[in-house]
Amino acid sequence: METRRDPRQFLFFIILLLLINSPETQNPGYNTRTRYDEVLEREWQHLDILNQTRWGDFGQFGKEGEGYLNVTGLREEDGFVWDILGGVKERVRERSKGVLGEEEMGRFLKGTDDEEVIEKPRVYKNLTGYAQGEWVRSPLSRIRHPVDLNVSHVLPDNPFPFAEFDRNLTGVGGPVRLHLTELEGKARTDTNRSISEIQAKVVIGDHESWGENWWEFLAHGVHYPEYGVAILTTTSERFAGVFALPHMQLSSHLYSSAQKLLNRTLHETMDRQVGRMYPVWNPWTSSVEGTNDGALGATHCEVVLFLQEFPVALENKPGGQQSLPGYSLDWLEHELRYPTGGRIPRRSPLTMSMVAFSPDCGFVIESKGPPEHSPSEATHLTGSKTEEFNDRARHGILAFAVTLSLQLWFLIRQAKEAATPSTRNRISFYTVAVMALGDGFAFLSLVFMHLFLGTSQLQLYTIAFLALFSVVLELRFLMDIWTVQVTEQMRQDRQQASTPTPPSPQPPATPNPQPRAPPPPSPTAPPPRSTTLPLPATANRPARPPTPIIIPSDQDFAADDIPTPTNPTTTPAATTPARAELGALYSRYCLFLIILFFITLQFTTMRSTARAIYFNTIIFLYLSFWVPQIYRNIMRNCRKALRWDFVVGQSVVRMVPIAYFYGVEDNVLFSRTDWRALAVLAGWMWLQIVALKSQEVLGSRFFVREGWAWVPVAYDYHPILREDEEGATMPIGSSTAPDSPTETTSLQPGESKGKGRKVFDCSICAQDIEVPVIPSGGGAVDGAQGGGLGSLMLQRRGYMVTPCRHIFHTPCLEGWMRYRLMCPNCREVLPPL
Ligand SMILES: *[C@@H]1O[C@H](CO)[C@@H](O)[C@H](O)[C@H]1NC(C)=O
Ligand SMILES: *[C@@H]1O[C@H](CO)[C@@H](O)[C@H](O)[C@H]1NC(C)=O
Ligand SMILES: *[C@@H]1O[C@H](CO)[C@@H](O)[C@H](O)[C@H]1NC(C)=O
Ligand SMILES: *[C@@H]1O[C@H](CO)[C@@H](O)[C@H](O)[C@H]1NC(C)=O
Ligand SMILES: *[C@@H]1O[C@H](CO)[C@@H](O)[C@H](O)[C@H]1NC(C)=O
Ligand SMILES: *[C@@H]1O[C@H](CO)[C@@H](O)[C@H](O)[C@H]1NC(C)=O
Ligand SMILES: *[C@@H]1O[C@H](CO)[C@@H](O)[C@H](O)[C@H]1NC(C)=O
Ligand SMILES: [Zn+2]
Ligand SMILES: [Zn+2]
Repeated sequence: METRRDPRQFLFFIILLLLINSPETQNPGYNTRTRYDEVLEREWQHLDILNQTRWGDFGQFGKEGEGYLNVTGLREEDGFVWDILGGVKERVRERSKGVLGEEEMGRFLKGTDDEEVIEKPRVYKNLTGYAQGEWVRSPLSRIRHPVDLNVSHVLPDNPFPFAEFDRNLTGVGGPVRLHLTELEGKARTDTNRSISEIQAKVVIGDHESWGENWWEFLAHGVHYPEYGVAILTTTSERFAGVFALPHMQLSSHLYSSAQKLLNRTLHETMDRQVGRMYPVWNPWTSSVEGTNDGALGATHCEVVLFLQEFPVALENKPGGQQSLPGYSLDWLEHELRYPTGGRIPRRSPLTMSMVAFSPDCGFVIESKGPPEHSPSEATHLTGSKTEEFNDRARHGILAFAVTLSLQLWFLIRQAKEAATPSTRNRISFYTVAVMALGDGFAFLSLVFMHLFLGTSQLQLYTIAFLALFSVVLELRFLMDIWTVQVTEQMRQDRQQASTPTPPSPQPPATPNPQPRAPPPPSPTAPPPRSTTLPLPATANRPARPPTPIIIPSDQDFAADDIPTPTNPTTTPAATTPARAELGALYSRYCLFLIILFFITLQFTTMRSTARAIYFNTIIFLYLSFWVPQIYRNIMRNCRKALRWDFVVGQSVVRMVPIAYFYGVEDNVLFSRTDWRALAVLAGWMWLQIVALKSQEVLGSRFFVREGWAWVPVAYDYHPILREDEEGATMPIGSSTAPDSPTETTSLQPGESKGKGRKVFDCSICAQDIEVPVIPSGGGAVDGAQGGGLGSLMLQRRGYMVTPCRHIFHTPCLEGWMRYRLMCPNCREVLPPL
């Protein structure tokens, strides 16, 4: 069996995965430069047109191409549906008026900036943050087909001119999320910051597309901070969006301010483009980092977005300190950003209304909310500023750190408890392995999380270290379990291999420890007479092989007890392959973890349905980590593998982050809530815990039928004792065994027989055990004992009978078996619990 793995093998695999995942690089073709010059040339022309046009030059369509401009996308032959622009603008005006009020709206459109006007709308000047909600399709929408769009006219080398467009929203609704960014120093403004640049990442989905598709794209535009209005657009080879932005404005005043700003900023951007060593094809690209613009010839719909921020409502707590009369929102924004300890009043969330339309694909969508929909149904797009989001993220990270530490604590307690080979032998390897995989996954996610959150890098790394620490501990624990179980497995294999051979060499080879002193914790040494008895007892039990049971399972640590192993070659032979397999185990763990991580990354960009199915499945499998333990309990017929606080603690602590992402509406990863899936997962967890608990109470095989073939015969330490003539199944009591009525210390056998009980002696604690016994004769079982059979099931948990027919209290022998897997009386090897 080849077990050693070459680590280079999976290094190669990782590199392969990285190559697959990296975005395609633009390959510098032979006429790249000339193409780049063409692109720049076109941009200068567009800027020239922007510089020269005036308000109203575009949009009043007449005959003979009147009203069109010689800008990509704004030409007549491009086939865009510009005739809906007027209707859309009307709609935007209506909505903004609803938010700002008639008077404000007038001032906004005309730009009359009276100094007397103190009461400006209370909107955040810095929109950096996010907002999410639902969109609905507007009746202004049209359906356009790729044939109408004359793609081959603009992109002659597109191989699929009639392929369906990306971002083609055809449903009546879906989710939408905006991440707005305007960075100080980077976003250019005019002198008074009445207009500034803004950028948005839009994540938009469509409920009615197949598998609930969703798209992510960038839009660039301008923001009027005083009134909370922003207009953004995508830009591509088919649509020179930013150059046309002033023509999307609502009034001549806004037109000229946008034109002034764009004239300057576009000029600067293009100057930088010229000086670049590597071509920057489109500085205003709508494709998100890492994806390719129009990869595989897929064309996408262009989108123009109109946003209107709602005024912030400040809620004063009753009884709280009254805010200053002219409470300045500027102060609040500053305080949020640079906290000085001032009391920040409660306030409404960042809310925005949105109208968006696609000039080529023809859809018009609006954010869902009042007045068309009741506020209880939807309230446009709500979210929060980045500072508040970062606060939430920090709290989330802190909470996760607490759960990780608790998890670690439970693990350490369990590992301490399972310090002996016989206790380790009970624990399922796969249960701990799944936990270790989960923590390894958490570690990898935490390391890469700050790329997504864009904040709290230091905290994330600290917690990643905590996760790594618990992975290391778990792997260490796994190694211990593995070593013990492999040794045990090999012992059993050897036993099976040696069973068919006739036991001819048995008498000389048995180092039966008869002449040796009994081990220290058995104060009441059995009388020498009893040591002869085990031999017939073991001989007539076919399941147990007669010869090699003398080889102790705990040979690695009980060297002081066993001076010389029967055959010295077993010890080195056992450890070398075990270590090799251990190495294979680690590389398998790492490999599996990395593959899992990459598959998960791939699935994060899939359609919503596929993504939900994948994550539900993965989390369900992850949360099944008690199943291997339940299975192992059945196979080995053992009950007390794990501490009870470990089982409950790990279950709860591992459920907490999952519950957060499934149940909390505005969680930091923006995952959609799914209460049904969460209920299923929690129920499944609960079911496993109940199964474990009932295995402990009722016996590990209480739900397993006798005849099931996959369950091996295992020794039952808690047999129901029946009295028969020979007394072959009765324990050998040192005091009141039925065949030794010579003892006088306890009750007489005849006396106890009458009550259906017998009294034995536990040699570990030197106390009596009173044991229920079914008397001989079948009539008594269903007659007198009929009602008592159920209680008999529970009573038999109180004592344990070894294969060598010695009887002990359950706690006594369980405590003993944590250290030695041999009978305290006669030193015969005991099957593990
Ligand atoms: C913009 O137009 C003005 C005249 O209206 C002209 O002087 C100037 O050079 C133009 N700028 C650009 C960048 O084309
Ligand atoms: C539009 O501009 C191109 C050059 O960029 C020019 O060849 C073409 O004649 C112009 N079309 C109109 C209608 O002005
Ligand atoms: C497509 O573009 C060509 C010019 O390349 C033009 O003649 C034709 O009218 C356009 N078709 C449509 C449907 O706009
Ligand atoms: C958008 O989707 C609709 C419905 O599937 C389809 O009929 C139309 O051709 C698509 N339009 C584009 C531009 O892909
Ligand atoms: C807006 O707030 C964000 C987050 O604090 C900050 O990074 C950015 O520089 C601010 N932008 C402006 C223009 O102040
Ligand atoms: C900025 O504001 C001052 C007065 O507050 C005004 O005189 C000036 O014209 C404004 N500048 C711009 C570019 O709006
Ligand atoms: C655009 O900028 C140029 C200088 O780059 C300036 O001459 C011109 O007047 C500006 N045009 C408008 C409309 O602001
Ligand atoms: Zn006892
Ligand atoms: Zn014994």
